[in-house]
Amino acid sequence: MIITETASYQSGFGNEFASEALAGALPEGRNSPQRVAYGLYAEQISGTAFTAPRSYNRRSWLYRIRPAAMHKPFIAIDDSSLHNRFDEVPTNPNQLRWDPLPVPERPTDFIDGLVSMAGNGGPAAQSGIGIHLYAANRSMQGRYFYDADGELLIVPQLGRLVIHTELGVLEIEPQQIAVIPRGIRFRVDLPDGDARGYVAENFGSALRLPELGPIGSNGLANPRDFETPVARYEDFEGEFELIAKFQGRLWRAAIGHSPLDVVAWHGNHVPYRYDLRRFNTIGSISYDHPDPSIFTVLTSASETPGTANLDFVIFPPRWLCAEDTFRPPWFHRNVASEYMGLIHGAYDAKAGGFVPGGGSLHNCMTGHGPDAASFEKASRSDTSQPDHIVDTMAFMFETRAVIHPTRQALESPQLQQGYLECWQGLRKHFDPSQR
Ligand SMILES: [Fe+2]
Repeated sequence: MIITETASYQSGFGNEFASEALAGALPEGRNSPQRVAYGLYAEQISGTAFTAPRSYNRRSWLYRIRPAAMHKPFIAIDDSSLHNRFDEVPTNPNQLRWDPLPVPERPTDFIDGLVSMAGNGGPAAQSGIGIHLYAANRSMQGRYFYDADGELLIVPQLGRLVIHTELGVLEIEPQQIAVIPRGIRFRVDLPDGDARGYVAENFGSALRLPELGPIGSNGLANPRDFETPVARYEDFEGEFELIAKFQGRLWRAAIGHSPLDVVAWHGNHVPYRYDLRRFNTIGSISYDHPDPSIFTVLTSASETPGTANLDFVIFPPRWLCAEDTFRPPWFHRNVASEYMGLIHGAYDAKAGGFVPGGGSLHNCMTGHGPDAASFEKASRSDTSQPDHIVDTMAFMFETRAVIHPTRQALESPQLQQGYLECWQGLRKHFDPSQR
């Protein structure tokens, strides 16, 4: 039985949320009363160490029909394309780019449709990220999933997702994102049938909003635009499957009931969604443009201040008005490594080849930047007039450590063989007699 029929949300980021699908299900004045209302079990899920500072601490209390411990033994799944084997093949310093994964023809749900492309670090060290794609065409049927290795940042490019979680239901479409915390169980419905997108699996500290420094108290992604679902529960019994991602591989266990049986909950270890079109994009109004960190939506901090385990950065529609300035992204090499994807439209530094659903990888100190056509166009444009970049949404998973492509990514038919050609046409303009 499903209690509420449409998804509804609570506003804010990192709040101490509270929600109950049945009036009076949340205990008052304590977390673990001797007997919980309606015969529910109390259970805590901690996403951080118990003693993490308050500003980093993430935990939620769940009041549920059966505890999470109740399932049959987990058995390894050996043939999944979702994994964290980032050391299978040597990592090369080439610029790499992929076409989109085709949507499968055989029935494939969200979990079976996940393909690991690259990553660094690993779940054992609770540091680094996995970068995965998904291409699927049917809802998860009788299957539930959780990831003990990291939180999941889901970036759809094609088709809506309805994500039923222990804490409620998130509906997202392309240009919206969802974040599912480490350990939270969920299933994904595909109301449009075909679905495709990107997933960052964050092994490190939980994503949070970046500091704003001199920008002030507003700007970039505003906290009130993040939405966390209200409590909603399933009271289903049957022969179901619980899939766990644990230490880089998948495991399956039989379970006799829906694990999405949380009737009430409170806390801040919660799933949420955000609409990227609400991002408050800030840029130069004089000359040059700031580093792309100005476009950070969410960041996972490392132990080194200012050096992220993962930055989720977007390139949304915006005005470019800097005068006497090369307006597209400049040529660059960074110590950080960058995986880029395109959700919608075209990206302003590439004239072609980088298409929605595709991806590119520029690793530590690998030179990259605008292609020859984009360079020639932008270096001759009239910068006394503003440019309006519209109808676009690109993003970047940026991380401090080298991103290692998996074997299946490097052997994929989607890997473009001619990507480097986009820079071979950059002409020599140097003339020592002409300033
Ligand atoms: Fe870059």
